[in-house]
Amino acid sequence: MRAIEIQNISKTYRIAKQKNRTVRAVDSVTLDIEEGEIFGLLGANGAGKTTLIKLMLGLIKADSGRILIEGYDVALYREKALTSVGAIVEEPTLFADFTGWENLKYFARLQNANVSDEKLRSIVELVGLKDRIDSKFKGYSLGMRQRLGIAQAIMHSPSILILDEPTNGLDPSGIVEMRELFLNLKKELGVTIIISSHILSEMQQLCDRVAFMVDGEIKAVKTMEEVNFGVDKLKKYSIECSDMQKAIEIIVSQGMIATQENDSLIVRAGQSEISNLVKLFVKNGIELYGLTKQKRRLEDLYKEVSQPVTTDKQEA
Ligand SMILES: Nc1ncnc2c1ncn2[C@@H]1O[C@H](COP(=O)(O)OP(=O)(O)OP(=O)(O)O)[C@@H](O)[C@H]1O
Ligand SMILES: [Mg+2]
Repeated sequence: MRAIEIQNISKTYRIAKQKNRTVRAVDSVTLDIEEGEIFGLLGANGAGKTTLIKLMLGLIKADSGRILIEGYDVALYREKALTSVGAIVEEPTLFADFTGWENLKYFARLQNANVSDEKLRSIVELVGLKDRIDSKFKGYSLGMRQRLGIAQAIMHSPSILILDEPTNGLDPSGIVEMRELFLNLKKELGVTIIISSHILSEMQQLCDRVAFMVDGEIKAVKTMEEVNFGVDKLKKYSIECSDMQKAIEIIVSQGMIATQENDSLIVRAGQSEISNLVKLFVKNGIELYGLTKQKRRLEDLYKEVSQPVTTDKQEA
């Protein structure tokens, strides 16, 4: 079953104090999010990510279109639609003079989430806040605040998590820990996760699919395999070996082109061609030190998705 169905949704903001000026923050977006996947919403500042997430949570009203969460229209049956959803949008509102633990207890009561102290403690451990949970919230770093926000979002055991830039302000080790936490939630509990970011590298090791959002529109939706290596059969390989000159000769003799980059050779090849090359190298006494499939860069992808129409077939 689909966790979320977004059907042709649009949202226009009026700009305060400027008569008749409007911004179309989300423009005719249609998107399906499958149960159990980690789905990335990728876009630059102002692309419309937060607006789309607010629409998913029924926090703002759409101009047109609708969003179904586990089959329920968010605009019509908000409470039902959101029963199994946990979310963080913008900075979580928590009380400065409460400890982390007191904040969680307060929200558990507020949400009527029947959470035992034991379960709450295991969540605190899961988000990596065990040592600081009895300190006051006002002394928390940004990363700790994010963690507490996530603890709050997951305490009622949601099957869908919607997170707006949850790694904002985290240091590299915090980002790694967060990624592990999300992967763990997916693996252990089968939670569906929608996560927004403007940093592709953060999504690359986490998401199953990503959508590219530009000026309110979804320009392309790709699986991570497609993002990293493209959709065509030929992938870019980087080869390190004992005899570059001989290797180039062999590559050329097979009708392929090799370019040299520092100590590596770069070839575009299909899977069978690359394994054939390896066999020929061995046969000709060339030692292979390294063979890696090269990931594409964010800039390349943006160029690609900024084209007027992006279909898989048209991709280079
Ligand atoms: N309440 C509002 N009133 C008027 N315009 C708004 C409002 N909220 C957002 N916008 C505009 O809508 C567009 C999309 O904003 P949104 O916050 O959804 O983008 P975003 O992708 O989340 O950006 P960021 O990466 O900076 O968080 C922007 O042009 C923004 O200025
Ligand atoms: Mg935003």
